[in-house]
Amino acid sequence: MSLQVCLTCGNEMPETDSHARCRTCAGLLEIRHPDPEATPAELRRRFDERRGSGSAADASGVWRFRELVLPSAREIISHPEGNTPLLRRQALDRWSGLTGLLLKHEGHNPTGSFKDRGMTVGVTQARRIGARAVACASTGNTSASLAAYASQAEIPALVLVPASGVALGKLAQALAYGARTLLVRGDFDDCLRLVQEASTRLGVYLLNSINPFRLEGQKTIVLELLQQLAWDPPDWIVLPAGNLGNTAAFGKALREARAWGLISRLPRLAAVQAAGAAPFARSYDEGFTRRHTVKAETVATAIRIGDPASYERAVRSIRETDGVVLAVDDAELLEAKAAIDASGVGCEPASAASVAGVRALVRRGTIGPDDRVVAVLTGHVLKDPGILLHYHREMDPPPRGANRPIEIEPRLKDVEAVLRDVS
Ligand code: F0G
Repeated sequence: MSLQVCLTCGNEMPETDSHARCRTCAGLLEIRHPDPEATPAELRRRFDERRGSGSAADASGVWRFRELVLPSAREIISHPEGNTPLLRRQALDRWSGLTGLLLKHEGHNPTGSFKDRGMTVGVTQARRIGARAVACASTGNTSASLAAYASQAEIPALVLVPASGVALGKLAQALAYGARTLLVRGDFDDCLRLVQEASTRLGVYLLNSINPFRLEGQKTIVLELLQQLAWDPPDWIVLPAGNLGNTAAFGKALREARAWGLISRLPRLAAVQAAGAAPFARSYDEGFTRRHTVKAETVATAIRIGDPASYERAVRSIRETDGVVLAVDDAELLEAKAAIDASGVGCEPASAASVAGVRALVRRGTIGPDDRVVAVLTGHVLKDPGILLHYHREMDPPPRGANRPIEIEPRLKDVEAVLRDVS
């Protein structure tokens, strides 16, 4: 069996303990797996074979890697999820200044974000320990994902989101999938404090990314992209960073992949925050001597987070991969989003932080133009239709990427006039 180990005091707890934090010191927990019994070559062969298999677990881009995720899981709650594409668009090479930028598009998951990878594991674990209800705080995507997986598992779900600032698509999903949705008059950081208190006092199983099982699922973004690259790691993996769960999970995935012989070299991680919500970038600039909190504000509501929960785990990820942390402002982020959208790929605002970050790092000379870079797009373009319509229809003066709709009379000559303009 795997163990839950406290990163602060080293306390070891059994895999089936339902506490979201260390029972002794309330530190963050990490799952420690026994070393896989198979050789690296055997593991790679199994992962490849499962890709084409018809069984439910094998069809999932999470459970395909089960030896490294939750080897003891038996009855899994899977959609399935994962199997997201690695895309390349020349327009984005030109925009970012690279010769071959790859995009790992996690918006192709069943509820439209990478959260499904963690949630399939978290909800599987919730069922396994007999949770009577599950809960999370969220800027939107986690709540959409929890709502879907909890209803599949037939466990009641409670989601706490900020009363204002949750993107329309995400709120709609939480309601549609049937979660009890609490609109908290406060920001995400207030929601997270409240849900942790509720989970300890009211005995509800906490499924924020504080929960270490969520991170085990999120590791598979990295495992899957490594498999897609035939286990030849890129030079860089660039990702948006908010609550830092993903930054933590990526570092763990890479550390384990190297320890277990799947790769021999670590890519560098680049975590990109929005400038108005960048406490981690500030700590990085100060050599991680101090943890900061801020009052967060950014158009990218998914990462509007001022007090990231997985701070310690994420520091370790950046240190171990010789990584970097940076911030991009809202204008850069929206420009990157418009470029990603116009390339036909599309993503939600927070996701564009990764591509904006790539361009900033190329301009600084940190990333070389011929480096092999994978940028992770974390959410689907339709998650946040509000911001899209505002950008294209309403912003005045129109930004460079604005695509204003044109209202016409039902007459052929009006269509012809437009056609003359575009061709
Ligand atoms: N991108 C998107 C689309 C997100 O929804 C999130 C986080 C992140 C990036 C940042 O990832 O928190 O692991 O650093 N969304 C959480 C939520 C907070 O509640 O949906 P992180």
